[in-house]
Amino acid sequence: MTADPRGNMPPSLLAVTIDGPAGSGKSTMARLLAKKLGAVMIDTGAMYRAVTARVIDNGVDPDDETAVARVAREIHLRFAGEDSRQVLVDGEDESARIRQADVNALVSKISAYPQVRSELVGLQRKMAEGGPVVMEGRDTGSVVLPQARFKFFLVAGPDVRAERRRLEIAQAGESRDHKEVLEGITARDLQDSQRAVSPLVKPEGAVEIDTSQLDIDEVLERMLVLIVSDKYEAS
Ligand code: DC
Repeated sequence: MTADPRGNMPPSLLAVTIDGPAGSGKSTMARLLAKKLGAVMIDTGAMYRAVTARVIDNGVDPDDETAVARVAREIHLRFAGEDSRQVLVDGEDESARIRQADVNALVSKISAYPQVRSELVGLQRKMAEGGPVVMEGRDTGSVVLPQARFKFFLVAGPDVRAERRRLEIAQAGESRDHKEVLEGITARDLQDSQRAVSPLVKPEGAVEIDTSQLDIDEVLERMLVLIVSDKYEAS
């Protein structure tokens, strides 16, 4: 049977993972691909961000891994709204809160804690059991869903990624210069790729796409061509 990217596929047959560094285009592509495939998009970075925001807002000591892991265990996370864009934390819409500067600055540290990762990876796997998903993050094809049918690894040059982030921030009404954004991205890249647990790596079997010179439609087309041409056995 040939995969039909526009129809709903049985849950066991469709899981797509998209990993890559900040600004490589993961979220944009995951959202569009999920729409095309009739799948649910899961932004795993938003989940680490939600835990980080809770840690800050509840005055939990960020150096205390056990206390931070307790936040991850007890938090109730859900994606809602059009294109799964809203992040509901304990029923409250925290979509804007989790993108704020204090969360940006702390999230790499929080996401490096093994106990936090183990809580959230468990939750991510549970979310994927519910139906076809497009999951994006840093370890979704390597750790969370290594058995995923389709895995992509997106990359782009640091300057391109910083400029994309700067525009995103500008659209949200904040102004930052390119150099400042580039420094932030470079620091997070380093932390995310050098940490001991689940560092950012190209997952085995993933297709790498350099999005530096491609527009959104071109990347989507490349992904869809691979998915459409895939043959699989119905289980
Ligand atoms: O993609 P993002 O910028 O929203 O991710 C926020 C942070 O969370 C980033 O520093 C890396 C981390 N992260 C992670 O460690 N594992 C994931 N699966 C997703 C994000």
